[in-house]
Amino acid sequence: MPAILLVNGPNLNMLGKREPGIYGSDTLADVERLVSEKAHQLGYQIITFQSNHEGEIIDKIHEMREQVEGILINPGAFTHYSYAIRDAISAVSLPVVEIHISNVHARETFRHQSVIAPIAVGQVVGLGIKGYELALEGLVHYLQSQDRE
Ligand code: DQA
Repeated sequence: MPAILLVNGPNLNMLGKREPGIYGSDTLADVERLVSEKAHQLGYQIITFQSNHEGEIIDKIHEMREQVEGILINPGAFTHYSYAIRDAISAVSLPVVEIHISNVHARETFRHQSVIAPIAVGQVVGLGIKGYELALEGLVHYLQSQDRE
């Protein structure tokens, strides 16, 4: 089964406990289960990874470069300033879809910019954890359309 890497960045291990008014009451385990189940239906396997450390995220992206077809990533606050994560994604030449649980555009100004977005296939923003499932569908659709070319 082809594989997709699901990366969750800093503080997303706290989902369910962290600001539930913004991020909801589902946990990271719930998110990973939801994405894995949906992926199996679509014929993909999910490799999950969460880290609070920029370098660990970069190492994982490098390590997985030949084992996965694409990446789903919620980079957390790294979204807004990590050129290093952006470069890691560019370096591995894998398609990436960016996810945000909250509507970052309706929040503080510093959240309005994503340094990842310009190199992403697309973004799913503000739809809660449902966004992970939609991002997966979008990535799979993208991969399948590339196969047909
Ligand atoms: C987030 C939005 C980011 O601004 C924030 O730093 C997060 C979570 C989201 O999923 O809405 O950690 O990526």
